Amino acid sequence: MMFDGDPLIELSHIGFAYRDAGAGDVAAGDADDYAANRAVLADFSLTVNRGECVALLGPNGIGKTTVMRIINALEFPDSGAYRFGGTPVTREQVESKNSLFAKALHQRIGFVFQNSDTQLFCPSVEEEIAFGPTQMGLPDEQIVQRVNDMIDLFALAALRERAPYRLSGGEKKRVAIASVMSMNPDLLVLDEPTDGLDERNTAVLVRVLRGFVDIGKTVLFSTHHHDIVHQLDARIIHMGQ
Ligand SMILES: Nc1ncnc2c1ncn2[C@@H]1O[C@H](COP(=O)(O)OP(=O)(O)O)[C@@H](O)[C@H]1O
Ligand SMILES: [Mg+2]
Repeated sequence: MMFDGDPLIELSHIGFAYRDAGAGDVAAGDADDYAANRAVLADFSLTVNRGECVALLGPNGIGKTTVMRIINALEFPDSGAYRFGGTPVTREQVESKNSLFAKALHQRIGFVFQNSDTQLFCPSVEEEIAFGPTQMGLPDEQIVQRVNDMIDLFALAALRERAPYRLSGGEKKRVAIASVMSMNPDLLVLDEPTDGLDERNTAVLVRVLRGFVDIGKTVLFSTHHHDIVHQLDARIIHMGQ
């Protein structure tokens, strides 16, 4: 099966530069210099095995979010190779029409954005959590089961009918994570997940992520908070050294 090989994540010698901002100002002959000057990632490699919990650390602007966007196939490397579960992930595969590739990949990887507002769009917490399983075409009773499991796991019973956009930051984060975990992904990628969370919400997050790793699943997150790295006993990857 696609994506079932090992290791789970393999980024090999990745080079990456953003091209959108100001690219039009550059004379044609300077394109290579421009890319080299603006490279966010140069010869970046990372391997994550199944069942690992890995923390990406490093200063602002070093490329942590970019690495996560590449893993989630929201950006594609200029050079080097990315394999997920042994399967090469390329722009051609992901963007090809009539392909189940992108859908299958996005069921395997749950991406929790740094800003929950970019992730939450349903009228109620319950519908937000049901959205992924519904898109996957699961039968109704399984959807209900998954929603109830997530409501319990994240202590969301009192918020079930509430509009996600009206919740507090910590509540939004719990709903955002619940809404990707309800698809039962192999990998959770979380961008600065404890940013702005109080102690109680951080404790819920740590408990959930530990449980996820305990059943053999994989977690990759970026953070500036060393306490959560220790609480999760995460392997540390320092970027920019
Ligand atoms: N969409 C974008 N267009 C152009 N440059 C970007 C874009 N997103 C990020 N960058 C730049 O890429 C670099 C790495 O950013 P990022 O991956 O967000 O770093 P980190 O998450 O470690 O703070 C920064 O210099 C940032 O300004
Ligand atoms: Mg970032």
